[in-house]
Formats: sequence, C-alpha cells, structure tokens
Amino acid sequence: MSRQKIVAGNWKMNKSLQEGKTLVQMILNQVNDFDEVTKIIIPPFTYLDSINSQLSKKENFFLGAQNCHTNSGGAFTGEISANMLSSVGCKFVLVGHSERRHYFNEKDGDFVLKIKEALKNNIQPIFCIGETIHERKTDNHFKVITEQLTNVIKEFSIDDFAKFILAYEPVWAIGTGETATAQQAQEMHAFIRGVVADIYDSNSANNVAILYGGSCNAQNAQELFKCKDVDGGLIGGASLNADDFCKIIFSF
Ligand code: 13P
Repeated sequence: MSRQKIVAGNWKMNKSLQEGKTLVQMILNQVNDFDEVTKIIIPPFTYLDSINSQLSKKENFFLGAQNCHTNSGGAFTGEISANMLSSVGCKFVLVGHSERRHYFNEKDGDFVLKIKEALKNNIQPIFCIGETIHERKTDNHFKVITEQLTNVIKEFSIDDFAKFILAYEPVWAIGTGETATAQQAQEMHAFIRGVVADIYDSNSANNVAILYGGSCNAQNAQELFKCKDVDGGLIGGASLNADDFCKIIFSF
C-alpha cells in the first residue's frame, strides 16, 4: 500500500454491540464525507458483521480485526481464522500487538504465520512493534525494535511487504496517559524506515505507512501527526469516544 494518512480505532475488549453500533453511527455522522484520511474501525470479533453493515459503502472507512489464528481452519476451539474475517468484510488485522505478546505469549513465528494467513485472504496486516520501559531505560529500544521488525518482515517478499502497515506502540505509553513526545515518535519512525530500507529498499521504506500508538488522544494527535514519518495513529482508549476519535481524524 502506498503511504496514506490513517487513523485506526482498536476497541480492545470494550463496548456492548449496541454501544459499538451507536459509537460507529456517531463517528459516521461527523466524518462521513471526510475522505482524506483512511479510517479503520477495529471492534471485537462478535460485532464485526454488524459493524461491517454500517461501514460498507462508506467512503474510506474500513473494518479491521484485533487478531486472527495462525491456521486457516479446523479443530481450534474458540479461534477465528483470517478467511472467516474476510467473509465478514475485514480488510485489516492487528498482528503483534503488545497485549498479544505479553498476555498471550505470542512470538515472532506466530506473527509470521498470522500475516501469511491474512495476506492469503486479502487482509492487510497492521504489524505492531514497541519496546518496554525497561528496554528504553537501558537504551535497548533501537535494538529491540530492529529485532521485532526484522524477525518477521524478513520472511516476506518485497511485494508482500508493500501490503503491510506498521504501528509503533511503545509499551510504556499504552493505556498509561504517558504519550511518547513528538521527538521520540519521529526518531523511532525514521529509524524504522531505515530498518525497512536495509531489508528491502528505500522505495519500500518511503511507502510504508507507520502509525503511532500509545495514549494518542484528541489533545496530542496534531503534534504527533505533524512529524514527517508519522502517518497517523492506532488509537485505543480515545477511540471509544466519538468526539475524541473524530477530533483525532481531523488532526492532520
Ligand atoms: P491507548 O490509546 O489506550 O494507549 O492504546 C493504544 C493501543 O494499544 C492501540 O492498539
């Protein structure tokens, strides 16, 4: 995908179906015809089909999922495959989110398999990477980001990588109210482009959209989105409120 402005709302494990539908309707009322920004709504699995009906045919609004399984189907009780996601209209899927890494012990090899499944089903991965506070304080953040990125993307061709979106989400900023400064975000996003250029080429590095995530909100989005290498946001808490989420969409 060529570089574009993107705001994605990851609802995580929040909202009832009715609350989610109301939230989407309120967002659509405010930004329905604002198509300069790609908007991605990422609700829990159980609401995907219903929210797809609300979003379909809306200009530049897309449906995303929070996870998919490493396999395409079979005896995996409780799991959801990428082709199931595709059948309910998903165009994007989060892979590598720090909550999946830390609470569900997911590893690089899982992310590779999940992304392969996603791509097979024409779903674009939003691949998340980010360092812990300990890794930053011990000056290991560039090394950690290099490893998280390289271990996964080296398994994909340059053509497959063109379908990736990346999200830099420092773990210490997620849900904490402690946002990365614009300088910290810009520094890391530029660094990530450098890693991509080393693995593929400068064209791939320039074309990949890199989102910032971690306590991004209506107050700080504008400052973050001004950064040259920040192409938008992956929003958690602030995506649960229509006014806040819309203000973020209008922050470019
Ligand atoms: P918060 O915006 O709540 O910090 O969450 C960010 C995030 O994890 C999005 O995927």
